[in-house]
Amino acid sequence: MLEIIYVKVLPFPVDVILSQYYDYEHVAHVHPTTLGEFHLVSVHGNVAVYEQHWPRRWFLRARSLVRQEFTPPNEIWFHFIRGRHKGVKVHTRLHADSQGTRVEERYLLPYPNWNWLRRIVKKWVDHNVERIWEEDLSVGICRGGWPGVPRS
Ligand SMILES: [Fe+2]
Repeated sequence: MLEIIYVKVLPFPVDVILSQYYDYEHVAHVHPTTLGEFHLVSVHGNVAVYEQHWPRRWFLRARSLVRQEFTPPNEIWFHFIRGRHKGVKVHTRLHADSQGTRVEERYLLPYPNWNWLRRIVKKWVDHNVERIWEEDLSVGICRGGWPGVPRS
C-alpha cells in the first residue's frame, strides 16, 4: 500500500471545513475542471455514497463510486469502491488550529510502497489537492448544500 500524507492549514473553523466535505452541491460549480460532479446515491447514518463524474477528457468521462463515512467528531474515511481510483482510501482528520483548521489527509493507494513511486504520486496529489483548495478558498468555502454533515 502506497501512503501519501497531505497537510494544510485553512483560515476557517473546523465546522465550516467539515460541512464543505458534505456539500456535494458545490462541486459542479466550484470544481468542474478538477473534481467534476458528485451525485448522491444514498445516505444511511454516517455513511453516504456518491457517484463522482470526473471532468470530461476528450470524449470520455470517468466515474467513481465512493463511500464516505463520518467518524464524529472530526474524521472522514473515503473509499473508492468502483471505477476510477478503485481501491484508493483517504483518511481525513480535521483539527482546530490557532489559524483555523489543520487538515491532515492520508492517501492509501493500492500500489507498491516504493520510494521513487511515492515521490511521483505525492507530487501529483499535492498539485491536485492544492488546486482544489484554491478553488474552495476563492469562493470563501461553500457549506450548507446537500446531503449535509450526518447528525447522530
Ligand atoms: Fe470544495
